[in-house]
Amino acid sequence: MLKKIKNTAEFIQDSTNQFQPQIGIILGTGLGGLVNDVNIEHEIEYEDIPSFPISTVESHKGKLIFGELSGKKVIIMQGRFHYYEGYSLKEVAFPVQVMKFLGVKTLLISNAAGGLNSSYKKGDLMVIKDHINHFPGNPLIGENIEEIGPRFVDMYEPYANTLISKAEAAANKHEFTIQKGVYVGLPGPMLETPAEYNYLRIIGADAVGMSTVPEVIAAKHANINCFACSIITDICFGEIKPVDIQDIINTAMEAEPRLTLLFKELIYHI
Ligand code: HPA
Repeated sequence: MLKKIKNTAEFIQDSTNQFQPQIGIILGTGLGGLVNDVNIEHEIEYEDIPSFPISTVESHKGKLIFGELSGKKVIIMQGRFHYYEGYSLKEVAFPVQVMKFLGVKTLLISNAAGGLNSSYKKGDLMVIKDHINHFPGNPLIGENIEEIGPRFVDMYEPYANTLISKAEAAANKHEFTIQKGVYVGLPGPMLETPAEYNYLRIIGADAVGMSTVPEVIAAKHANINCFACSIITDICFGEIKPVDIQDIINTAMEAEPRLTLLFKELIYHI
């Protein structure tokens, strides 16, 4: 496994003239607009990268983008891998482990999530302060790769407080509110039943989604600082209405300018 990760990292370095990103960014549903602000230096399609999974969700384009954003060298995953697509949790985490060998120190993630906290509104941004892993496993099970990190990973501060503070300051500056809460990650692809939404609220979650948690676990193992922000795309309390996936994508697109601003400002201050 280590060899595979290192081979992929070497391939990327050779294909990008030894580009050294400091920040990794995983873009979620309908949030691709951030790429328009990147001074792009290199792009590689996932299908051309050895050992890389290939994205199967239509709304996700699969490529790695390398360039400068807010004065920092970034690697962007345009298109992510979900457990519900059939990838193992190790496969979902693989790109993060590759990022470690490219020199990434900070990982930024966005996603779409359902709002469980009754004070949330559709279109809100929620900075993730903590998570609950509700996937059936995690990417670290099996032989530990000592070169990446220790056997027993401390999840004491899964999302870096310094990054959360910077994001709050950025939102303040641009005069929009952000929520801060706990994200629960589930396998999907089905959405939750009303009883499950209730259960997830009772166990302490403010938002629910189908991603992010495996990548953050892999990043913490690799001693990479994490920041993640959810767009609350649907409301999962009170009278639960049928979910319209197009409506989720539209809400994500409406929130995109705010999220883009937040990320750009955050990156500037890292
Ligand atoms: N549940 C799970 N994942 C989601 C939801 C939801 O309600 N909304 C967006 N992603």
